[in-house]
Amino acid sequence: MNIEWTKLGFEFLPTKSNIRFTYENGKWGEGCLHNDYKIELSVASNCMHYGQAAFEGLKAFSCKDRKVRIFRPEENARRLNSSLRHLLMPEIPEATFIDAVKTVIRDNIEYVPPYGTGGSLYIRPVVVGTSPQIGISASETYEFIVMVVPVGPYYKGGIKPVEAMIVDDIDRAAPCGTGHTKVAGNYAASLLPSKIAKKHGCAVALFLDSKTHSFIEEFGTSNFMAITPDGRYVTPESPSILPSITNKSLMTIAEDLGIAVERRPVPETELTTFAEVGACGTAVVITPVAKIHHGDKVYAYNTETMGPVLKKLYDRVTGIQYGEIPDTHHWMMEL
Ligand SMILES: Cc1ncc(COP(=O)(O)O)c(C=O)c1O
Repeated sequence: MNIEWTKLGFEFLPTKSNIRFTYENGKWGEGCLHNDYKIELSVASNCMHYGQAAFEGLKAFSCKDRKVRIFRPEENARRLNSSLRHLLMPEIPEATFIDAVKTVIRDNIEYVPPYGTGGSLYIRPVVVGTSPQIGISASETYEFIVMVVPVGPYYKGGIKPVEAMIVDDIDRAAPCGTGHTKVAGNYAASLLPSKIAKKHGCAVALFLDSKTHSFIEEFGTSNFMAITPDGRYVTPESPSILPSITNKSLMTIAEDLGIAVERRPVPETELTTFAEVGACGTAVVITPVAKIHHGDKVYAYNTETMGPVLKKLYDRVTGIQYGEIPDTHHWMMEL
């Protein structure tokens, strides 16, 4: 193992093991650690044809006191179960989820980036329907797998501002939203708009609501947040965006800091009024957005650095995650 911790990005890197649970005969079995990445799957399996699959993403950090802690894993357990209910998949008891996450981290402890390198261990739980079938119905068997990957910044350049693009001129079966509808499942509908955004030099696509195409939903990788010139935190309220645990945490931190939080529909027209715009999520933490392109329109913000309010929020959340400032909300779970 020879990892250059400070050079890590957000890319797959094999680690020692992943943990797997099988659901059959109406119940989840015991977790088993595997030292390979292969899975035997029927070509008729439900997840391959009908996409009965859901996943989560969370992080563990090597803290200042050198203890490894996980950021709010019970929130991911709850959201995964919400995704599973939406997709008619069997729920995973919260204790099983937490235990699986802890077991796989302990077995891969040497892959947790050391404190001070700016990295973290990304944890990816995934559940897939595995029973062979041809008709559209819920699978009878499932695999719940948790794998881990050491990661650095999601967007190259760390917290340097990125550009975003609203992509709505595609001749296609119009996936204008990410199609997540609160479920972290099939992201395939977001791939084409994201590719078009990248072709135009934008790191990320920004989605509008699919009904009116006039309200901001979220980025392909993360929630949308903005700061008004008078210092209010604004983030879209919509039934079809992923309820981000990072955004939820940042709203709590904002309130701690005396910053007013507004969670409400955000029309695209309001983009001209914001002082700072950011993307927030487990993987992107807070990534400042320098410009948003939409056809001929360009909404411009802080192009060189993260704005002062986003920076304050960023410092507070990463300070808690790395154990540098008191975890007053008890978000960090020890291994
Ligand atoms: C589309 C989308 N929105 C939002 C988020 C952020 O959610 P969280 O803060 O729970 O990681 C993610 C995941 O990273 C995502 O993929």
